[in-house]
Amino acid sequence: MIVCVAGSGAREHALASVLGRSADVLVTPGNPGITGRTPEGHLLSSTPAPPEEIEADLYVIGPEAPLVDGLADRLRARGAAVVGPGALGARLEGSKAFMKELAASAGVPSAAFGTFSDFAAADRFLSGLPGPYVVKTDGLAAGKGVLVTEDLDEARRDVRDKLSGAAFGDAGRRVVIEEAMSGPELSLLVLTDGRSCVALPAAQDHKRIGEGDSGPNTGGMGAYSPVPVAPQWVCDEVLERIVEPALAELARRGVEYRGVLYAGCMLTEEGPKLVEFNVRLGDPEAEVVLPRLSGDISALFYEVATGRLTSTPAISPQAAVSVVLAAPGYPQAPVLGDPITGVERAGTVSGVTVFHAGTSAASGSLCTSGGRVLAVTALGEDLAEARSRAYKGVAEISFAGMQYRGDIAQSALEVRS
Ligand code: AMP
Ligand code: GLY
Repeated sequence: MIVCVAGSGAREHALASVLGRSADVLVTPGNPGITGRTPEGHLLSSTPAPPEEIEADLYVIGPEAPLVDGLADRLRARGAAVVGPGALGARLEGSKAFMKELAASAGVPSAAFGTFSDFAAADRFLSGLPGPYVVKTDGLAAGKGVLVTEDLDEARRDVRDKLSGAAFGDAGRRVVIEEAMSGPELSLLVLTDGRSCVALPAAQDHKRIGEGDSGPNTGGMGAYSPVPVAPQWVCDEVLERIVEPALAELARRGVEYRGVLYAGCMLTEEGPKLVEFNVRLGDPEAEVVLPRLSGDISALFYEVATGRLTSTPAISPQAAVSVVLAAPGYPQAPVLGDPITGVERAGTVSGVTVFHAGTSAASGSLCTSGGRVLAVTALGEDLAEARSRAYKGVAEISFAGMQYRGDIAQSALEVRS
């Protein structure tokens, strides 16, 4: 089988490595890490050709932007087997206002909210909330469009900056304001062919730039799986109360959804509540979830794409931890173009794989080319071993101003002890 993966980050590198157990994988545009042969002998390659020009048996679309833009529809119109929803389903991520409205009509537990394009109305709603205040861009903002603050004036300023277009362009001209929820977060990624669904192992992401969950939100600074605060019964509850009703509501509205549905949840005192839906694998969640799946993942994804999902992937008992290395200035204004050393050495640490995210080899040597540069992932017998291996890998790598969090998965170890 030949699989085409669309995207260029660490998620797509992780996808290529597991799909490459049983298929040749072409990633577009890919990155310098996606090259060579897998241990099973399949070819991995990156190509600048657009997905529409690549002949493949299966297409897997990694990021949200092309999904929102209808890439899955265009490929399906040519008869292709595609993992990823069409533009209608992708609105679940492309518009937070749509997502909240669908969740509310499906009876999915989630934070109370209002949707606004007018400052005065938004301000009245904000003033009526007890705080903390949560202000989100309606449209896509690479994980950075959410402000959570205790300070009403800061929330007001943020609403103004978003609505004016100054902060996030058109994505912010409409905002969703929510009541704040609290509790540990859980990412549950589910494969669905529109009828059946299969949950992948639970993961937790660390979204803030700074240790102890400080500073602004990012695309994700690290992740781990399994999640000790989310045993199987909690994941089952998320499936029953959040994922299945949302999929049923989509189907009721005539939207066929084949791909990954990512439920970002908060485990509140009143039970799991939905924070957001994404319409694709999370990044960095993919880097810890995919390596824990055993068996033929290309065949499993083909079932999703063709509406015949019957298999359940075997899940390795090993734990996985991934630490993101980011460029200086990320997430606001990353400084790019610095040489990177030590990636090969890191890959020789037991259990470690280094997934490339924002790297370039155009100048002949490996340089930083994106805010999130690398995701150093390790498998281990338990979270403690996976974590210590991942940080051993991190210690081998350096580039100017390299930022990473030293506390990835730390709170999970405290739950265990
Ligand atoms: P989102 O992009 O909607 O997932 O939001 C990014 C992050 O902001 C989430 O992972 C949470 O940490 C935080 N967040 C979003 N919505 C809320 C909320 N209603 N209450 C508390 N925190 C939130
Ligand atoms: N890690 C969060 C996301 O992929 O949206």
